[in-house]
Amino acid sequence: MKSQLNNPASPGKSDRFSSAGFILAAIGSSVGLGNMWKFPYITGEHGGAAFFLLFIICLIVIGLPVLLAELAIGRAGRGSAATSFVKAGGPKVFGHLGLLQVIAPFLILTFYVIVAGWTLHYAVMSFSGNLYNNTDFGGQFTTFTEGYMPIIWQIVAIAITGWVVAKGISGGIEKFNKVLIPGLIILLIVLMIRAVTLPGAGAGVSFFLNPDFSKLSPEAALVALGHAFFSLSLGMGILLTYGAYVDKRQSLGPATLAIGAGDLIYAFIAGLIIFPTTASFGIEPNAGPSLVFIALPAAFSAMPLGAFFGGLFFILLAIAALTSSVSLLEVPTSYVMDRWHWGRTKSVVVISALVMLIGLPSALSFGIVPGLTDIGGKNFFDWLDFITSNILLPVGGLITTIFAGYFWKKAADAAGLKAGWFRVWLFMLRYIAPVLVFLVLLHTTGVIKFD
Ligand code: PHE
Repeated sequence: MKSQLNNPASPGKSDRFSSAGFILAAIGSSVGLGNMWKFPYITGEHGGAAFFLLFIICLIVIGLPVLLAELAIGRAGRGSAATSFVKAGGPKVFGHLGLLQVIAPFLILTFYVIVAGWTLHYAVMSFSGNLYNNTDFGGQFTTFTEGYMPIIWQIVAIAITGWVVAKGISGGIEKFNKVLIPGLIILLIVLMIRAVTLPGAGAGVSFFLNPDFSKLSPEAALVALGHAFFSLSLGMGILLTYGAYVDKRQSLGPATLAIGAGDLIYAFIAGLIIFPTTASFGIEPNAGPSLVFIALPAAFSAMPLGAFFGGLFFILLAIAALTSSVSLLEVPTSYVMDRWHWGRTKSVVVISALVMLIGLPSALSFGIVPGLTDIGGKNFFDWLDFITSNILLPVGGLITTIFAGYFWKKAADAAGLKAGWFRVWLFMLRYIAPVLVFLVLLHTTGVIKFD
């Protein structure tokens, strides 16, 4: 405790979030590429509004309790994602288990910045109009991702991320989110209005919002829960890390609700952009890169002022991605600052260089280096995505719920909830969340199959 108080490099010391800055930064972390290219698709596939309801239930019943647990542990420990468990008064073994939640965001970051780089490239290409000179958007995307250009953009995305994190919490991450989140909201609204006023947009809106309860299934529930975790950036040490910089006086309960609401509203509006646009141009609303980089450019190319709206859309994605990537980089940065007492700048420079190097095989795994394109059915990039999102994330979530539910005597004080809410919270963390998160893990690793 003493060394922590006297150590200037320890996170959570003098550099803190303001109350609003913290909520914006947490929302910035949660809204990301997942909201845009995964959420609308899985919603459409699993019954539209019926699935959306399920998602809201998962988010409230499981997502928010785990989110609150991460924040409370982080604030009580004032360490990093790994050290906070022990500093908050938990058994030593959680210090080792917590390391997983430092490694996971580091690995995610290595491929997340690559996609962030793609969005920057597409924003430039759209505003300049070059994207629309050739309407073979699939071919353009393949040529781009199979070349060396993505590496340049990967470096740009890491440089922006590293620059923000090097400037610290209040002067870097908080400021960045305070400027970009309002910008993100304006872009969302402009693009939503554009999308819902397109001819034929109504079909997309009703596809998204028509509840089809017949498509609800146990599988849909596990997909909804897995996505609630990914979307809130849980199980990745992020809220544990951000929590360390939150003031003692901040009430965590209302902050948790605000973060959940922010993520939900963003996901909803993303659906109101994607479905009307794809319906209006008769395109399949697929998931992943093919939606964002192939299907949507085709739509933009056919709409009036499409280059402008397309450019705005890619800027929106770039902002969503970068406010998430700074949160990812802060986790290992805070860990090495806490653990080895390195200065912030040195930590950021070394980790960013490693992110760059370890990201290279992902950046090159779309065709240019044959050995990386197919490693047992997936390319290098997809493997990293699979391991982190499908294995490390639920495991990280399990560790947090089990810790807070069973091993943490100070949970009541740290969460600052009224007695009744505290009992509900503890009940969820003890009996509901671990079981369901474990089922998600069995599902994402293919142990449970629904065919
Ligand atoms: N929540 C982000 C999204 O929806 C992804 C993310 C996961 C970011 C984990 C940081 C950590 O895209």
